[in-house]
Amino acid sequence: MGWATLDDMALEGKRVLIRVDINVPVQDGEVTDASRIARTTPTIRDVLEAGGRPILLAHFDRPKGRRVPEMSLEQLARPMQDALGVPVRFCAACVGPAAEAAADALPAGEVLLLENTRFYPGEEANDADFAAALARLGDIYCNDAFSAAHRAHASTAGIASHLPSCAGRLMAAELSALSRALTEPERPLMAVVGGAKVSTKLELLANLVERVDILVIGGGMANTFLAARGLEIGRSLAEHDMADTAREITEKAAKAGCEVLLPVDVVVARDLAAGAPHETVPAGACPEDAMILDAGAESVRRIRDALERARTLLWNGPLGAFEYPPFDAATAAAAAKAAELSRSGRLVSVAGGGDTVAALNRADAAKDFTYISTAGGAFLEWMEGKDLPGVAALKR
Ligand code: 3PG
Repeated sequence: MGWATLDDMALEGKRVLIRVDINVPVQDGEVTDASRIARTTPTIRDVLEAGGRPILLAHFDRPKGRRVPEMSLEQLARPMQDALGVPVRFCAACVGPAAEAAADALPAGEVLLLENTRFYPGEEANDADFAAALARLGDIYCNDAFSAAHRAHASTAGIASHLPSCAGRLMAAELSALSRALTEPERPLMAVVGGAKVSTKLELLANLVERVDILVIGGGMANTFLAARGLEIGRSLAEHDMADTAREITEKAAKAGCEVLLPVDVVVARDLAAGAPHETVPAGACPEDAMILDAGAESVRRIRDALERARTLLWNGPLGAFEYPPFDAATAAAAAKAAELSRSGRLVSVAGGGDTVAALNRADAAKDFTYISTAGGAFLEWMEGKDLPGVAALKR
């Protein structure tokens, strides 16, 4: 694949600086979704088993180069320890004498978690001196943070030029699942792209229409496309200033032979609220005072048919206002079909993005997908066809 993995490194007795992404949601001091923590454990365990000393580098939230006490990684030492089942020490710095002393003093069989790299301005600036200061804490650099690989920061990119570097288990798994789905997929390749705004997923759609065989556009984005075709969408969420772009993407798809599936019927309501009174109407027949909140049953039938034809699926973004049932119905029905086909081995399905994974979990479908990425922004940028700095740095 062009980069080393843990298996290529002699780890015994070495201080292994592992860049993890434990940027997890925390509410009132409690981690509300520990998936990212759980997914870091294989790499850390493998390093421990090989006799290496894992020293964890990570960011948390966006403190913008300042020390923000609520964003300290100290609060994640205990959840990391619970997930790993070995002692996790914390050091309130990630560079300098205290951090270096903590790294040197780390006993075999234990893990050291360093303070939030983003407390230091050198991190996001990818400052060479800061990267060198990080590198002084280890003998080997292992990047296991695919979900932060779209950031050209000192701990995700710069540091790799100072130390022998390799990809961790999660990084390797993400890269192999994603290239299986987009770089060398079994065809037909289908993508489902939903979510609110065309403007945030423009590059994604433009890249996908040239690479996928079937593209389903759902969520608020679909409204922009419907409106661009002159269809009535009432008070629906849409970006009317993106109409030309929507038409260009449609034309590009036609030229590339990509079949685009937009809703042919839609579920409309007057209020965006769980259980709001609703009806299904043909796309283009949304009453003036109503909003489109989900794709209708006929649209779902077409998506399910397309899934039957597909061999590979990439999914990013919900098809409707899934947080407000029953407007999660289209997402749930399409997800259930993808899950069933994946379970029976007929479909390779890869999904990513925070909302997407939440929607698939809600539909109880995520567990049957071939691969669920831990990444949000990095998944999108990778699907846009961009080179991710954190991955590129490992290749050098
Ligand atoms: C994420 O949560 O997607 C990653 O941790 C990256 O975080 P960021 O968007 O703050 O760089």
